[in-house]
Amino acid sequence: MFVILLGAPGAGKGTQAEIISGKLGLAHVATGDLFRQAVEKNDMLGRLVKGYMEKGLLVPDEVTIRVLSERLNGPDCRTGCILDGFPRTLEQARALDKTMSERGQAVDVAVYIEVPEAELLKRLSGRWICRKCQAPYHEVSSPPKVAGRCDKCGGELYQRADDKKETVRERLKVYFDQTAPLLDYYSKKGKLARVDGRLAIEEVSGRIMSHLHAGSTRTK
Ligand code: AP5
Ligand code: MG
Ligand code: ZN
Repeated sequence: MFVILLGAPGAGKGTQAEIISGKLGLAHVATGDLFRQAVEKNDMLGRLVKGYMEKGLLVPDEVTIRVLSERLNGPDCRTGCILDGFPRTLEQARALDKTMSERGQAVDVAVYIEVPEAELLKRLSGRWICRKCQAPYHEVSSPPKVAGRCDKCGGELYQRADDKKETVRERLKVYFDQTAPLLDYYSKKGKLARVDGRLAIEEVSGRIMSHLHAGSTRTK
């Protein structure tokens, strides 16, 4: 099963991808995580994408599509995965469809996690991320058991550089301009499912799971 999680910055894509991939035994593929790992390593890709990420801008499609295609060739993505943060532009969505059809496969469902803007700002300003495994926490809604340490791997928690107020504003603008049109793209294909992302984390996961189980409930 190939599942896309769509939503604005802070909507809960990473949080839900982590939970759903665990439940279904599917790989969690996040272009943002792949880019952040490259920036940490300071390798060629990291040096290329750092400036875009710091400004809250999208990495050029050509680079993003290449990185994603390589990741999809991994043995853990042969029969499915949860895509978090990809596609983000119509060009990326079309490239994904092309790659999938060359493999004789298709995207099953794009789940849109809907959250109002004021809530997004609160979530991003209180977010902490694990440096090792990238698991997201929130100082109010989902704090770690031990302050500053990841529950899953013990890694150090840090705040993302692009979670600064001005950068968040830019990321939201980019989202509404370039990514929101994808809702229409997947809706026209009959593949869009909407989930109320304001609910508690477990409640959102439950609703996503029921959409995955019942393809017929997808909304247009
Ligand atoms: P990326 O890493 O994908 O960031 P994003 O889309 O801005 O989304 P976030 O990771 O900020 O939010 P999220 O939806 O994952 O929320 P989370 O689960 O953490 O991209 C970063 C950058 O990389 C981009 O700006 C761009 O430069 C580049 N990039 C990446 N992909 C690209 C692409 N395809 N093309 C081009 N460039 C690309 O949750 C947020 C917080 O809320 C957490 O603290 C969490 O604990 C909390 N929370 C989650 N759910 C709930 C809930 N239900 N109730 C209360 N709190 C909750
Ligand atoms: Mg994320
Ligand atoms: Zn961790």
